[in-house]
Amino acid sequence: MRSTLISAILTSALVSANPHLGMPGWEPAGPDDFRGPCPMLNTLANHNFLPHDGKGITEEVAVQALTAGLNFNATLAALMFKMAVVANPEPKATFFTLDHLNQHNVLEHDASLSRSDAFFGNNHVFNKTIFDETRAYWTGPVLDVNMLANGKIARQINSKAYNPEYTFTESMENFSLGEVAAPIIVFGDLQTRTVDRALIDYFFENERLPTELGWTKPANALTQDDVLAVSQAISEAANLITPSEPGHAGKRGDLHSGLGV
Ligand code: HEM
Ligand SMILES: *[C@@H]1O[C@H](CO)[C@@H](O)[C@H](O)[C@H]1NC(C)=O
Ligand SMILES: *[C@@H]1O[C@H](CO)[C@@H](O)[C@H](O)[C@H]1NC(C)=O
Ligand SMILES: *[C@@H]1O[C@H](CO)[C@@H](O)[C@H](O)[C@H]1NC(C)=O
Repeated sequence: MRSTLISAILTSALVSANPHLGMPGWEPAGPDDFRGPCPMLNTLANHNFLPHDGKGITEEVAVQALTAGLNFNATLAALMFKMAVVANPEPKATFFTLDHLNQHNVLEHDASLSRSDAFFGNNHVFNKTIFDETRAYWTGPVLDVNMLANGKIARQINSKAYNPEYTFTESMENFSLGEVAAPIIVFGDLQTRTVDRALIDYFFENERLPTELGWTKPANALTQDDVLAVSQAISEAANLITPSEPGHAGKRGDLHSGLGV
């Protein structure tokens, strides 16, 4: 009887510390914890895959977090760290903190999916108004590259129209394509290039891995080729020109020929 009770207490303690096998317990950021504009790094810190205080992220720490938490291939994880460590303003830095990422126009950029432009206010906390702007283009329960690309373009048009300091360089575009692709890569299907919208809403809103919605980390290690393939598909889906209708393109050209077409 007594041992049953003790074992029940122990079990419930274990379950609350670790509600999903292999998934460290989740705890939101406290007042002294650093967080940044990346919903995934914040998430990994909330799950203690990264230091919960968001500090001291060395290559070893980043690679461990991305491999253990998301099954990133270690080569890809190391590459991402190397691209990020420039966010630490110290020369030859060997680590970064999550709040280093908040510096505007270093890695953080305008027209984010879920954060305000720096011009308008806080550029790194989740902002529901902004996320709703993006989600207006997520027109079904399963997101595809077109919906994700449309949300991205819409945010850029809004920023370009209303933010007099709108900045979006080619290297920001490249980063942005990776960010827009990320939901498919981590939470979706690499073959069909789709992802359940519910998982993405949950992830952004809670900065928590959507295990309670049935997500499990990818079975096969994610490589740089996976990231590039989905980013490329997003880039193509962001093109607003559709293929010509066979036989009609020439006539339409004639119609407007007086206008210099
Ligand atoms: C070393 C690894 C990483 C670094 C340094 C990093 C850094 C950043 C930064 C600086 C931003 C802000 C860009 C902006 O202004 O919108 C960002 C956004 C983002 N990151 Fe990460 N990231 C990393 C890994 C990941 C991973 C593994 C995912 C996978 C899901 C991810 C998903 C995203 C998404 C979806 C956004 C866009 C958020 C938005 O537009 O509102 N990141 N990341
Ligand atoms: C990561 O994947 C790439 C491409 O498949 C491979 O060349 C590399 O060796 C992998 N890295 C590790 C550490 O397994
Ligand atoms: C969210 O973004 C909008 C538009 O940039 C801004 O007006 C609002 O103050 C932001 N909200 C928060 C909570 O930062
Ligand atoms: C952006 O990506 C494209 C396509 O992969 C590449 O050709 C270009 O050099 C990249 N530009 C920058 C500034 O990184």
